[in-house]
Parts: sequence; C-alpha cells; structure tokens
Amino acid sequence: MRIGLLGFGVVGRGVYELTAPRDDMTVAKVVCLEDVTLPDAQVTKDFKDVLNDPTIDTVVEAMGGLHPAYEFVKAAIEAGKHIVTSNKALVATFYDELIPLAQEKGVCFRCTAAVGGGIGWLSELERARRMQTIEKVGGIMNGTCNYILDSMTRLGLGYADALKQAQQLGYAEANPTTDVEGIDTWHKVILSSNVAFGIRLDTATVPVAGISRIQATDVENFTAHGLVCKLISTGKCKDGKISAYVQPTLVKQGEPESAVPANYNLITFVGSASDRMSFYGQGAGRYPTAYNVVQDCADVLLGKGFYSPCGEKVAAENTDTLCYYVRGGMDAWLQENTAETWGDAVITKPVSVEAMHRWLKDQPEAFIAALAE
Ligand code: HSE
Repeated sequence: MRIGLLGFGVVGRGVYELTAPRDDMTVAKVVCLEDVTLPDAQVTKDFKDVLNDPTIDTVVEAMGGLHPAYEFVKAAIEAGKHIVTSNKALVATFYDELIPLAQEKGVCFRCTAAVGGGIGWLSELERARRMQTIEKVGGIMNGTCNYILDSMTRLGLGYADALKQAQQLGYAEANPTTDVEGIDTWHKVILSSNVAFGIRLDTATVPVAGISRIQATDVENFTAHGLVCKLISTGKCKDGKISAYVQPTLVKQGEPESAVPANYNLITFVGSASDRMSFYGQGAGRYPTAYNVVQDCADVLLGKGFYSPCGEKVAAENTDTLCYYVRGGMDAWLQENTAETWGDAVITKPVSVEAMHRWLKDQPEAFIAALAE
C-alpha cells in the first residue's frame, strides 16, 4: 500500500511514525501547509500531487474539519483511491454522499479512529452486527468533556481551569466549542447509529445539549445526591423506531460510567445475542488515534470496505421520557413539570427527550442533565 497522507498534525505525524517500520504500507507523500522535511516521503502543499499520482492507492485524511477535507476525499474516491480517515465531522456530515460514492466506485472507506480514538469501536460494531441485532449504542465519547467533568467532580476544579488543562493536554478540538457543546459527541453517535442500525440518520432530528453551562454548585448538588455528571450519547433502535440524542446525564456513583477518569471514553452496545458490551480506552491523542488509522489501513489491505450497508434515511423520534435536573430558566412549562427542588435547581417529572430539548432551545442560561434510566 502506498499512502498519500493529508495533514501532519497530531494524528498525521502519529500515522507517519507508526507506519515507518512496516513492510506492508508506506507513506509516499504528505500534504501539509507547514515546511516539513521527511527523509523518506515527499512533502507537498498541493493535494493534486497525491490525486494525480497513480502509484498512490490509499489516501489517509488526518486534516480534520469539513473543508477542504470533503473536496479532497471526494476527489480521491472518484480517482479510485481507498480512504482512511479519523475525521468524524466529515463522515457524519457527508455520510449520505461519501459512503454510497465509495461503494459505487468499489473503494474501501474506513474511519475507525473517528469514534473512540484508539478503541476498536466501529470495527467491533461491524463484527457485532454480522450475527445479531444491535439495540443500543452510546456512552462517553468525548475525552475533553470527560476530563472537564472528572476534574470538577474529583478535584474540585472550576470549569474554565479544567477546560484550559484539557486544551494544554491536546485533547480538545481546535475550537473547543465543538467538544463542550457536545457537537463532537453528536457526530460520533450519528456515525455509530448509522453503522450499528444500517441506516442514515437525519442529523436534524438528533438533539444535543453540552456541558458549557455547568457550574461548581451543580457538581456539589450531584455529589450530595450520590450522582456523577457525564456527557452521554444514546442511539436506540426498538421495533424499527430510532431515538438518538446527546446530553449531560447523572449516573449513580458505582455505575461503570461514573468511574471513567480523565480523557478516557467508555462506549457500549447492547446486542440481541451478546447483551451489553462496553469498550474502554483512550478516546483521543496522537498514538491511540493513529493506531486505529493504521489498523484501518491493514483492513483495507484485506479488502474490507465500509462497516455496514448505507441504509434508508431515518428521522429520530425522541419520545423516551426521562426526569431532568434543570437549573435556570424557570417558566410556566418548567413549573408545571417540576417534581422536586434541589437547592436552586429542580428535578422534573418524566418528560420526553424531545420536549426537554425543545424547551432548552429558548433558554440561553439553563443547564440540564438527565437522570439516567
Ligand atoms: N476532541 C476529541 C475528544 C478528540 O476530546 O474526545 C477525539 O475525537
């Protein structure tokens, strides 16, 4: 395999290093805008040097962001090159277009590092769905948010200090809003649901609430009630009906999710034969992420295409009812749905996920967290 590597940042450099000792794959060209010199690969600023090189059979995209990653990946597929990418925003956003295109052109498209960094999550979902129906996917999918919530809970750090540390450690995206507003987790649960259920989720029907409004008083409230706040994603398929959402969630101390430290991820599927299977590990960082990119390259060498068929477009129907912790934004709807009070926050009666997120859209200050089922 001769690889054209797009991007030489955290992940790209890791891919270069991890492929260097291998006989079965070679990074032949690197596209990057910085002045980098490599002993054994040509460095270029022009993607066409990769696109028009017939000796390059595989493009590894490690640039991140939507543009020009989308244009480059699409052109590479059209030129008959296999794709390996760690870019969850790209795959979740352009799933409808890129996956069918890759299948039409007969090229492999792998993106295991896009969810869970170094965890073999999508590749295991691919195996899991060969012999059972997947009923549920989700869990802790963002290292930055987990780092912030864990630092606030266990170390008593303030939100801003915890975020700063996560950025310094290289976990956060270039724009950390993507992490703390839950968008990164949203991309990951959309992609996981598509693979697990063999569908194409209508992304506009998947609501997301992040952690940016959490305060130290909320954390004190949770601890006093034996609860730990985590940013949890959920994708479910029951009787052909899909629900999918991302929200801060209060789990009981002692539950596996409550104990996940620092930047780690804990991702779970529930299958009709296997029941609950959870995957724990480094969800971000150079070598864990590059590890899964190189694993994907090895799978491309085995001829493995995408993980599951690109099924029908489906809207999520988030009719599940949950109780929520809500601080801020008291109004008639919230008053009517309040079951009890915790300090300056309230706990709601069971309300649908859809109704809670619809209410939150008009609340610039409120923080919500679901009580785990
Ligand atoms: N910013 C992401 C995280 C990186 O914190 O999990 C891995 O997708």
